[in-house]
Amino acid sequence: MPTDVRFRSLVPADASPRGEPMVTLFFDGRALQAPAGCSVAAALLANGVSTFRTTPVSGAPRAPYCMMGACFDCLVEIDGQPNRQSCLVAVAEGMQVKTQAGLRSFDGAGTVIAEEAAHVE
Ligand code: FES
Repeated sequence: MPTDVRFRSLVPADASPRGEPMVTLFFDGRALQAPAGCSVAAALLANGVSTFRTTPVSGAPRAPYCMMGACFDCLVEIDGQPNRQSCLVAVAEGMQVKTQAGLRSFDGAGTVIAEEAAHVE
């Protein structure tokens, strides 16, 4: 499934629609601006990010679908913690967000538990 960005923000990614202060977060090391209080998923989409995670079996790219905590297609690593639903987490100054590749453990340690299962033909 293609995940090219079809999300179109009503305001520029670097502008706050209601005068909220802007925060800087990082996605895979790239600095992004977003209004305080918006979700990580909305911030990434508004900044043109189209792949949030890859699936453990085929390695297919995934991006947010429901934006309300139901689909889990928005999983990312946030400040070293994997399996975070980016649509349910508010941005914070200096937050480090990374693409999540394949499965991660749920022990909070970020342990890869099925990397070898990725890209199974
Ligand atoms: S976009 Fe569906 S759970 Fe986050």
